[in-house]
Amino acid sequence: MPAQKIVIYPGSFDPPTNGHLDLIERASKAFAHVVVATLRNDSKRPLFTVAERLEMLREVVEPFGNVSVDSFEGLLVDYARSRGAKLILRGIRAISDYEYELQMALMNRKLYPELETIFIPAAESYSYLSSRLVKEVSALGGEIDDVVPPTVARRLREKHSKL
Ligand code: PNS
Repeated sequence: MPAQKIVIYPGSFDPPTNGHLDLIERASKAFAHVVVATLRNDSKRPLFTVAERLEMLREVVEPFGNVSVDSFEGLLVDYARSRGAKLILRGIRAISDYEYELQMALMNRKLYPELETIFIPAAESYSYLSSRLVKEVSALGGEIDDVVPPTVARRLREKHSKL
C-alpha cells in the first residue's frame, strides 16, 4: 500500500472517548488504512494498562474494515518509519489545542522531514471532551455513558469500583 495512504493516529487513549471514535470514523473514510497506535511508555501514569487500552480500541474499531490497532514505544517518528507510514493524524478540539499540536508536528517534521501531520477538527459536540475529564467524572461517580463507547463505560465502572 502506498505510504501516503496509511495514516497513523497516535495517542494515549486512556481511555478512548467518543471524540476519538468520531475522529477514527472520519479518518476511515478519508484514508485507505488507519492505524490507531497507543503509547506504551506513557509518563502520564495511565489508568488503563496497554493491554486494556488495546482491547478497548480493538472493540471500538471493529465496525471499520480499514482500521487496525497497535501500540508503540519510543519516538513516534521511529514507529511511523517502522510502519512505512508518512502521515500522522491528530484531532484538534479548540484553538487551545493548536499550539501544542503544532509544536509536536514541527518537532516530528524536524526528526523525519517526509512525515506530514494532518489535523482533523473534532466534532463540535465533543469539543469539550478529554480522557482526563472522563476519568475524573467517572471516579467521582458521574454519568459518562454519553461520552464514551459502552465497553469503555463498563470498564471505567469496573476500575473505579475496585479502587
Ligand atoms: O493522546 P495524547 O496523550 O495527546 O498523545 C500524545 C502522543 C502519544 C501523540 C505523544 O506524546 C507522542 O507522540 N509520544 C511519543 C514520544 C515522542 O515521539 N515524543 C516526541 C513528540 S514531538
